[in-house]
Amino acid sequence: MKNPTRVCEVCVIVMLIPFLCWMESVNAIGANWGTQSSHPLPPETVVRMLLDNGIQKVKLFDADYGALRALSKSGIEVMVGIPNDLLATMASSMKAAEKWVSKNVSTHLSNSVNIRYVAVGNEPFLATYNGSFLRTTFPALENIQAALVKAGLGGKVKVTVPQNADVYSPSETGGPSSGDFRTDIHDYMFQITKFLNDNGSPFTVNIYPFISLYIDSNFPVEYAFFDGKATPVDDGGTTYTNMFDANYDTLVWALQKNGFPNMGIIVGEIGWPSDGDRNANNEYAERFMQGFMTHIAGGKGTPMRQVPIEAYLFSLIDEDQKSIQPGNFERHWGVFYFDGQPKYPLNLGTTATGALVPARNVKYLQRKWCVLKDSVKLEDPSIAQSVSYACALGDCTSLGYGTSCGDLDGKMNISYAFNSYYQINNQLDEACRFPNVSTITKDDPSTGSCRFGIMIEPYYAAADRRLHSGAYLAGLLLLSLIVL
Ligand SMILES: *[C@@H]1O[C@H](CO)[C@@H](O)[C@H](O)[C@H]1NC(C)=O
Ligand SMILES: *[C@@H]1O[C@H](CO)[C@@H](O)[C@H](O)[C@H]1NC(C)=O
Ligand SMILES: *[C@@H]1O[C@H](CO)[C@@H](O)[C@H](O)[C@H]1NC(C)=O
Ligand SMILES: *[C@@H]1O[C@H](CO)[C@@H](O)[C@H](O)[C@H]1NC(C)=O
Repeated sequence: MKNPTRVCEVCVIVMLIPFLCWMESVNAIGANWGTQSSHPLPPETVVRMLLDNGIQKVKLFDADYGALRALSKSGIEVMVGIPNDLLATMASSMKAAEKWVSKNVSTHLSNSVNIRYVAVGNEPFLATYNGSFLRTTFPALENIQAALVKAGLGGKVKVTVPQNADVYSPSETGGPSSGDFRTDIHDYMFQITKFLNDNGSPFTVNIYPFISLYIDSNFPVEYAFFDGKATPVDDGGTTYTNMFDANYDTLVWALQKNGFPNMGIIVGEIGWPSDGDRNANNEYAERFMQGFMTHIAGGKGTPMRQVPIEAYLFSLIDEDQKSIQPGNFERHWGVFYFDGQPKYPLNLGTTATGALVPARNVKYLQRKWCVLKDSVKLEDPSIAQSVSYACALGDCTSLGYGTSCGDLDGKMNISYAFNSYYQINNQLDEACRFPNVSTITKDDPSTGSCRFGIMIEPYYAAADRRLHSGAYLAGLLLLSLIVL
């Protein structure tokens, strides 16, 4: 039975070749793979998922050894990242840059990992960083480029600096054609862009209509999407009906104005979160993501750049350990939930079924949940303390106005918090001992859009890169103190 199956697979692959080639030239979609999760899927599972979904490019935020090892021989194009907190070191020491390239690029290349880009920093000029990385980004970029050349990789691996779209803007009253780099960072942006351009490297930008809507309640909702229903914005005869095109073209104009009319552009991040805010839900996320995929599918580009758009979806999988400083939506950017299950039907144009393919062989913990005891009165004084404790160490970003669990009553709300803490702690009995108020149940408390999750089995090889193993132990200690 084995051989016929093989033959058949080969047939399918051969039949798909022209299609795949076309996909390559028009629209090979990429995805961001972040690992700030309490329970990351095993890297091999994620790579399988990427392949099953026809995602041919992946962008990492560091050079995670497990991820890179799993990408070996997959053929998937990889962008590895240098986190902002390493920029100062890379800037001040050529030796450090050479070591980074040797360990985090050369080693993996010789192990058949298809590394094509190094992202130097991640949105280093974001206004909220107060200029902390202004002086180190460029020298770090120079050193990494020199180290790549020295390692003989100058032609194969390109450097880039993923920037937030706030590094450029149109003038206060103008359209995209008035685009230029932000005045306060103009010289830094010019220096970096010239260097990238001189080295045949692309400009990488992250574009977020969701954030525009989040920070500005007057932002026209339809303009965030791709359905052409927004009031058109006229820019000297060119009309825009979606923010993505207008934003992308603002960059095209800014590059042109500064002398780089032919520079390649990569959309490093584009996406829509599914929870944690009134505008973050599966319906809007699907509408945005499908709208974007359909928008770029023909390879017709934007009004100013009528060429295929290269983009990395943000992101692949939800990450429950991300900082919620930007907002509760921050842990819900995935097109897949934390366990590799699709959130909504999304046709990337790369799968036979036209839908997302879930992760395979995911191992869940038992079907049990930690909830508030029925008998407990809401006025019980120990509850508030327990809830804030559970939420601090668990994840309550799906509670609150307009979120997937925003309609729960007070008691269910508390149960949700307890369960989150319990699951994140691998269903340890100790993690469901909120003094006298919690109990374990086998009846799934999920209702409507609100999912009371069951955690997946922890992936122990990832323990060393887990941010919160310390916090977790401290948490158990604290909990036992509360219990006493
Ligand atoms: C390689 O990358 C990893 C992950 O980002 C980082 O922790 C490590 O310091 C890097 N190695 C060198 C030699 O810089
Ligand atoms: C930036 O500055 C503000 C106000 O001065 C401060 O509250 C914030 O912590 C600073 N952020 C960073 C990353 O330095
Ligand atoms: C549910 O919990 C969230 C977060 O702890 C809180 O903001 C909200 O007010 C609670 N809702 C109810 C109905 O208790
Ligand atoms: C828990 O309940 C028991 C029996 O009802 C009671 O004796 C005890 O004081 C309670 N503990 C707390 C922390 O409320």
